[in-house]
Amino acid sequence: MTTLQEKFSDKYYERKIMQNDIYIIDYPFNTELLYQEYLNAKKYFIPYRDHRGSADWWKIAKWNFEYAEELTELFNINANPRLYFLGKNQHLPKHKDNGTECAINIVLNDNITSGVTYGSSTYHYRAALLNTQNEHEVFNGPEDRYLFKLSIFDEPFEEVKNKIESVLEKCKNSQ
Ligand SMILES: [Fe+2]
Repeated sequence: MTTLQEKFSDKYYERKIMQNDIYIIDYPFNTELLYQEYLNAKKYFIPYRDHRGSADWWKIAKWNFEYAEELTELFNINANPRLYFLGKNQHLPKHKDNGTECAINIVLNDNITSGVTYGSSTYHYRAALLNTQNEHEVFNGPEDRYLFKLSIFDEPFEEVKNKIESVLEKCKNSQ
C-alpha cells in the first residue's frame, strides 16, 4: 500500500515518470549485423529535416532490411526502421518526436557515451523503448552516435512495453 505521504512525495512521482519514459530492453540484439546495415546505408543518409529546420550533424536513413523485419515480427509491432547519425558532443534540445508514439532505439557504438534525458534523469542504454511523446533531450558524448531505431506510430508506449515484456518472458522460459 502506498501511504498518502509517499504518494505525494517527489520520489513517488519521479518513479512514476521514469516508468512511463523509458524501458531498458535486455535482449541479445545482433548489434554487429545492425552496424553492418548502418555502413551499407551510409551513402543514403540525409540531414534530418522537419518543420523546425534541418541539421547536417543529425542525419537519417530510412532503411528496410530483413533483420529489422524479423524484429518487428518478434515484438508483434508495426514499425519503420531508421538509422541515425548524431555528431559528437551535439545536443538535441527538449522535444517530442513528430507523430511517433514510441521507439525502440539500439545504440550501435562499441561504447555507450550518449544518453537520453527526461526531466532531471539521464539514461544510458544499449537498447531501450523510449516514450517519444514525453519531452526528452539528448546530450551526445565525445563520440559520434550510431543508432538503429524502430519508430512506432500506432501504439502507445505502455502497450508496446507490455508486448516486449511478454516476449522477453517467453525467451527466458525457453532457455
Ligand atoms: Fe527524440
